[in-house]
Amino acid sequence: MFGNRNFDGHERVMFAHDETSGLKALVAIHSSALGPAFGGCRMWPYPDDAAALNDALRLSRGMTYKATICELPYGGGKSVIIADSKTDKTEDLLLAMGRLVESLGGAYIIADDVGTTLADLAVMRRETRHTAAATTAAQAELAVTAYGVLMAIEATVAQVFDRSELTGMRFAVQGLGNVGMPLCEHLHARGAALVVADVDPQRMALAEARFGAEQVAPDSIYDVEADIFAPCALGAVLNDATIPRLAAKAVCGGANNQLSEARHDRALAERGIVFVPDYLANSGGVIDYYQESIDDRPEAILRSVERIRTIAGDVLKRAKSEALTPLECADAIVRQRLKSAVSEPAH
Ligand code: NAI
Repeated sequence: MFGNRNFDGHERVMFAHDETSGLKALVAIHSSALGPAFGGCRMWPYPDDAAALNDALRLSRGMTYKATICELPYGGGKSVIIADSKTDKTEDLLLAMGRLVESLGGAYIIADDVGTTLADLAVMRRETRHTAAATTAAQAELAVTAYGVLMAIEATVAQVFDRSELTGMRFAVQGLGNVGMPLCEHLHARGAALVVADVDPQRMALAEARFGAEQVAPDSIYDVEADIFAPCALGAVLNDATIPRLAAKAVCGGANNQLSEARHDRALAERGIVFVPDYLANSGGVIDYYQESIDDRPEAILRSVERIRTIAGDVLKRAKSEALTPLECADAIVRQRLKSAVSEPAH
């Protein structure tokens, strides 16, 4: 575990088993320097424990960076349940997960992720208060992540393209799910042209019908002549095979862990492509959670998510002036804040 390449000074990693429900889960707390660890619960039929551990380590670190760059009072955590959400999800399993979260006494706040839903969190809430999505607003399907990606895109358009509007700009959007489809809606409403790809032809047909989007085969999205490429499907899509093909001038999307390896950030920069840190662009969910604790009206939540535009604008500006990539710049800001929090703990 301490030699694992995804280990990054994580504070705690817990393996848990509940015999009655069959729960096999991991909770990783990467950092609680700035507050309780916040992060989703992924339910996935991992091929082995190592794969589950790697996901928990990687994703919990990402949550620390996400919360910290947005100046939220949270640390980063993530939980994984080793199970198939289509066949293994039972009420007993979710209640056991709720008890596990409760046993951490608020050190970890659980949210939804791949394989878990708001309804699942409602079940867990019978055992623990430490869940996201507890307010009425949380049920309102606000698509906060997509709105946050739009904010990061607006900052990119201003800083990289020196434009104040999206009209006439061309976007290549990969993945038309919970993030990609509402993002297309926003971009279309602002007069942008869309080229889209999804492995599901029905999603593409819907985007064409609703937003006049041009469809391309999933593997062709990298070659599209676009101003901005918005990955909103899978991780690791920016790699040795795709970066040389990219025809966009900037990458800004909602998918987690878009870089296959850390060095691919520099590889993009060498091609003159600006990469907006994914953990910043897709931080709408954690901002939403924070905002709901203060004022959960939908308009207040959206105003709060708009901070992504300011932060992304600042990061892009500072990166340019310091000859850093935006990711190097954002990472340095996060590390500095974590260091200060550890050396000057809040009283
Ligand atoms: P989703 O499962 O609703 O949508 C993903 C879409 O991508 C689906 O329509 C799927 O058919 C498509 N897809 C799968 N493989 C593809 C491929 N090779 N090429 C093109 N399209 C492909 O997922 P969701 O919620 O929209 O999330 C998308 C990404 O954003 C994920 O990486 C997720 O981790 C990340 N994310 C999502 C958040 C959320 O609030 N939903 C929050 C933060 C990050």
